[in-house]
Amino acid sequence: MELHILEHSLKVASIEKEGIEICTHGLIKLAFLASKTRCKFFSLTETPEDYTIIVDEEGFKELPQSNLISVADSTWLALNVVSGGGNASSSQPIGVTKIAKSVIAPLADHNISVFMLSTYQTDFILVRERDLPMVMHTLSSEFTLFRVVNGETVAAHNLGISNGFVKPKLGMPRPIIHPLSSPSNMFCVTSLDPDTLPSVATLLMDVMFYSVGFPNNVLFTSASGELWKMVRIGGQPLGFDECGIVAQISEPLATADIPAYYISTFKFDHALVPEENIQSVIRALRTESTAQ
Ligand code: ARG
Repeated sequence: MELHILEHSLKVASIEKEGIEICTHGLIKLAFLASKTRCKFFSLTETPEDYTIIVDEEGFKELPQSNLISVADSTWLALNVVSGGGNASSSQPIGVTKIAKSVIAPLADHNISVFMLSTYQTDFILVRERDLPMVMHTLSSEFTLFRVVNGETVAAHNLGISNGFVKPKLGMPRPIIHPLSSPSNMFCVTSLDPDTLPSVATLLMDVMFYSVGFPNNVLFTSASGELWKMVRIGGQPLGFDECGIVAQISEPLATADIPAYYISTFKFDHALVPEENIQSVIRALRTESTAQ
């Protein structure tokens, strides 16, 4: 298995609901007019609380400065796992379940804070730039490490650090610390060929900036028609320093072989699981909870 360390230096920011108006000029450029910016990494997630934006430094320049926008202090790097060899269609579990034991758990055991961003195609594991030596050290035994430099993937050299100080907490149980909740709405996870973006741009602008929720019956293709339900993790905002939250949720899902997407936002974490699994997932996670 290969682990790719992407080259973008990422900022994670929260835009308050009232702040979306002053950001739409930049956000429309970032989301729909790729050729008008040098931004290479952009993600926008709306929750009832706020909008979370993850962008590289070029993209960040498109946002205004405002007290309606809060930016996390750290700079983050995105990692993604690429299964080597051509056998992509083997029955691999999808999403965070696939990387729970090989990536998420070891990072948590080494006290490395992550920020997860699952997409239809891939799962990005964001780590703080300053933790990179420790991340590489932790994952080098399981993965061949590559770095992307000027768009080219090159072998990454282990930085030769040794883990003299942090004792991994191997084999420790991992109780779920934060309260869980599950909203009643369902989610459709889908992807879009960039060439078809113009044909859905007005609909997406409506959804992103002018509507509450997704207009009914305009879900595009979901080949499987599969629907997902969400488990939200966190009562108080989770912050960025705590580690192990993603591991607490994703490990039991991996053990039960339940596919899951996982999306961290500025305040809370969110796991999406297949609709038919939601009851058993909640039951399983509640038995691991300390905050029932
Ligand atoms: N840092 C947490 C972990 O390592 C996940 C992110 C939680 N924080 C947040 N703002 N969503 O498991």
